[in-house]
Amino acid sequence: MKVAIVGKGGVGKTTVAGTLARMLADDGYRVMAIDADPDANLASALGCVPEIARAITPIADMKDFIRERTGSGEGFGGVFKLNPKVDDIPDKFSRDVEGVKFLVMGSLDTGGTGCLCPENIVLRRFLEEVLEYREETVILDMEAGLEHLGRGTARAVDLLIIVVEPGQRSIETARAIMKLATDLGIQSMRLVMNKVVDKADADLLTQNFKADQILGYISYDRELMRLDREGQAPYDFFRNTDTSFFNEMKEIKGKVIDLIAEGVKGQPH
Ligand SMILES: Nc1ncnc2c1ncn2[C@@H]1O[C@H](COP(=O)(O)OP(=O)(O)OP(=O)(O)O)[C@@H](O)[C@H]1O
Ligand SMILES: [Mg+2]
Repeated sequence: MKVAIVGKGGVGKTTVAGTLARMLADDGYRVMAIDADPDANLASALGCVPEIARAITPIADMKDFIRERTGSGEGFGGVFKLNPKVDDIPDKFSRDVEGVKFLVMGSLDTGGTGCLCPENIVLRRFLEEVLEYREETVILDMEAGLEHLGRGTARAVDLLIIVVEPGQRSIETARAIMKLATDLGIQSMRLVMNKVVDKADADLLTQNFKADQILGYISYDRELMRLDREGQAPYDFFRNTDTSFFNEMKEIKGKVIDLIAEGVKGQPH
């Protein structure tokens, strides 16, 4: 089960990714959560204490490792391997956070994610490895763009969850993401509207998308902002409570499992 979570900045991707990963782990799934957002902050949403979160070195910053694997740095402008060995990264560099294998990809200093620099080659190969070859359930917390995903790798994503909030801007971003994802060959995508306050908010989603494109709704809850401020995982606070957030996330998690089990039929277009 490979799930990628995308959406406009601040819509709640990390909140959803961290909670979904913890819920699936509690259900007995072997879960790997990957922070693929250059502005990484999945650690605290998963339940990682700040001291440990700060000590995690993103893969992009493992200069010696990248040099060793790609053979780069051996002279200015030197050639390097385009197909470095990366299959040991998940086990070697992941941390256990409350039963979830956690990895941070990090960001590139220069050239953006499109460049053919050694760091980028390693990051792309790493994503390819976890999406195409690993057995675990993978939850990817991404940025709005799908930069890290090449064509082959994108096709390995079983489900793209696009998070929106009540407003035209994040819905426009969702449309752009859907187009890009379709071009990349991602078959299955569903929307989640977060920060819902009233029916007018929810209606915005049904007015813009078909019912079978919608995965669920999450209510606005100020506690989530407090938890973020204090660096606490939503799941550790809400787990097993009879709250909207917990019940709605549980419903979303159930639908994700069902969709993947059926091979995500009825693709939206
Ligand atoms: N349902 C909600 N109700 C109220 N606040 C929320 C809700 N969901 C998320 N938030 C808050 O909104 C802020 C952004 O959430 P989050 O970090 O999950 O979004 P993001 O999409 O990952 O952001 P970024 O683009 O910066 O990575 C956080 O302070 C979070 O606590
Ligand atoms: Mg985030």
